[in-house]
Amino acid sequence: MDPFLQIVVSCLLPLLLIFICYHLKKSSSSTNSGPILAPEAAGAWPIIGHLHLFGGKNLTHKTLGAMADKDGPIFTIKLGSHKVVVVNNGEIAKDCLTTHDMAFSTRPTIVASKLLGYNYAMFGFAPYGDYWREMRKIATVELLSNQRLDLLKHIWSSEVDTWASELYNKLCLEKGSEKNRVLVDMKRWFGDLTEKDFMDVMLNILDGANVDGVDADTINKATCLNLMLAGSDTTMIALTWALSLLLNNPNKLQKAQLELDQIVGRERNVEESDIQNLIYLQAIIKETIRLYPPSPLLLRATKEDCTLTCGYHVRKGTRLMVNTWKIQREERVWGHNSEEFEPERFLTSHKEVDLRGKLGFEMVSFGGGRRSCHREKKAESFTMMGEEGLRTGRRWGWEVTVGVVGEGRRGWGFRG
Ligand code: HEM
Repeated sequence: MDPFLQIVVSCLLPLLLIFICYHLKKSSSSTNSGPILAPEAAGAWPIIGHLHLFGGKNLTHKTLGAMADKDGPIFTIKLGSHKVVVVNNGEIAKDCLTTHDMAFSTRPTIVASKLLGYNYAMFGFAPYGDYWREMRKIATVELLSNQRLDLLKHIWSSEVDTWASELYNKLCLEKGSEKNRVLVDMKRWFGDLTEKDFMDVMLNILDGANVDGVDADTINKATCLNLMLAGSDTTMIALTWALSLLLNNPNKLQKAQLELDQIVGRERNVEESDIQNLIYLQAIIKETIRLYPPSPLLLRATKEDCTLTCGYHVRKGTRLMVNTWKIQREERVWGHNSEEFEPERFLTSHKEVDLRGKLGFEMVSFGGGRRSCHREKKAESFTMMGEEGLRTGRRWGWEVTVGVVGEGRRGWGFRG
């Protein structure tokens, strides 16, 4: 045989065999009369499964959303050797995160969490178990309790003030550079605002003790980093989107400014106690988080076998992805204008919907069940205080210019 042909045949033959085995295995498993599994989405390749569909320019939650339009509200995909069940519907998400909360209460053990998260010492990424339980208790009771945050309230308030002053100074210094306009990267500014330090409190609480075999120093580093990542990135994303949406919707911005003028006035900053009266601003935050959830996919793993109410069986070890982004744009729930920025819906047609999914799971931005975000209420007020920090600029006589902002587009600024 021609040597070239020999090489081609020896490379292709094993691939062909793998392909045939894969399809034989697939067809034999589909004729098994075992428990019913959610259907597998089309397009899997041997060995890598659906991996080739992700990455590149397309965002994962959008790709999965488009797959849901074809494959239905619940389907499975394969990411290499890992099977993932993908949920795109509020009712099924509620079933997973409340009725079967225990079965889905762990996080997947991924290499990134091990290597970057101090060997799973960052409790938000840790598997379900004694360490996670203990750390979640410490975080809830000692670090993020209302009492602790009230004690730190003055720091937050002065941070907002300093931040707004620095931003204003930057605008004054650079004023006139381009027809009185200054381009500001608000994502970076919001990022600076939300960084907090819990280290002192942790040093006092731990006092050299170790939790489930993890030493105090590692716990301290991991927990502070976890809270900074969990709290600052998400809040920064929500603030940046809120600002962007307001700039693109000047009539909503005016309504928000009017409400602030009426409830707070121009002589002082917003305080946390004002937030309950800032009804329209609350609706803006909810609508921002609905359209652009900072965590568009919830990631869990299955700790034990379970059968969902819809009849599908999920095996232990399967990963769970809840597509928050898709659920929060479902036309069936949010109406024909589900893709539009319409804060008013939270004052009228969707008045009863709250961020914690108490009513149904129309909103899943903060997750659900025992692994949910435990500071969702505070997150909402942090975001609003940040928004207000920005608007304190009104008192100094500068106003936001209406620019064109959108996904991947820049070009907004302030006018002094
Ligand atoms: C707009 C702001 C925020 C959003 C949208 C958000 C969203 C989320 C989501 C989706 C999860 C995963 C929930 C699940 O798997 O069910 C989560 C977990 C978590 N969040 Fe937040 N979060 C925000 C702000 C904060 C803040 C301010 C803090 C605290 C400083 C925080 C601390 C945490 C922690 C520690 C976890 C891990 C919980 C666990 O695994 O036990 N988050 N967050």
